[in-house]
Amino acid sequence: MDEHALIKKVALSSAKKAGRILKEGMTRGLTISYKGDLNLVTQIDTLSEQTIVAEIRKHFKDHQILAEEGHNHASTSPYRWIIDPLDGTTNYAHRFPYFCVSIGVEFEGEIILGVIYDPVRQELFIAEKGKGATLNNKSIGVSPIKNLSESLLVTGFAYNVRTAKNNNLNHFSNFIKKAQAIRRMGSAALDLCYVACGRFEGFWELNLKPWDTAAGSLILTEAGGTVTDFSGNPFLIDHPETLASNGKIHSAMVGLLGKGQ
Ligand code: IPD
Ligand code: CA
Ligand code: CA
Repeated sequence: MDEHALIKKVALSSAKKAGRILKEGMTRGLTISYKGDLNLVTQIDTLSEQTIVAEIRKHFKDHQILAEEGHNHASTSPYRWIIDPLDGTTNYAHRFPYFCVSIGVEFEGEIILGVIYDPVRQELFIAEKGKGATLNNKSIGVSPIKNLSESLLVTGFAYNVRTAKNNNLNHFSNFIKKAQAIRRMGSAALDLCYVACGRFEGFWELNLKPWDTAAGSLILTEAGGTVTDFSGNPFLIDHPETLASNGKIHSAMVGLLGKGQ
């Protein structure tokens, strides 16, 4: 098996393993601690991350790892795994069933694989660079809707929403008057997948981290969508602005985000 095929196999098996941990954890008592005022973490986030990293390490001793809960590894390897072991922790802590495992893999700085698994619905989203995107092995594509007024949008608010001046409420207010409706679901990685498979037309959020968007941004673009910053410039996973859409409403979204306050 070549290196990339093995990477895909390991990413899939670790996402499934971690997904089982999340699902089982839903039925157990959670130990909750706080990383900030609103930013919480449970023992399941940590257990999920340990499981994924152990699985990667069995096969790839020196690949770099960037993982939300701190199991990081820097090296000269051209491969880097970018992991959110539980995206949607606030939902999870409230037993609101919208969360996932997100695993992205970079080769020489370019994302080549994205795997996102929702263990509640058993939905597995996969994209490989240049090979399209799938949901449970069926090819997916973005929605054909062309107008903002017919679009269902999704957004999120960063954990600094209580204190940040730029807290997204201005954009929310502008979009709610122009879109068909807006949802705030609580898992940026799944939100990106939902745009990729046509359930939402567009998504925007401020201050996301590489582990929130690495896998989802590839799944979206491989499904035919567009991801940029709020001004329409090329998207970078460590940039504070994420704007993702079916492509058709992208310039309308850029226009409205530019209106700011
Ligand atoms: C969060 C979720 C949420 C988004 C936050 C993220 P976490 O990730 O993706 O939807 O609004 O900005 O930090 O903390 O649950 O992994
Ligand atoms: Ca996250
Ligand atoms: Ca997380």
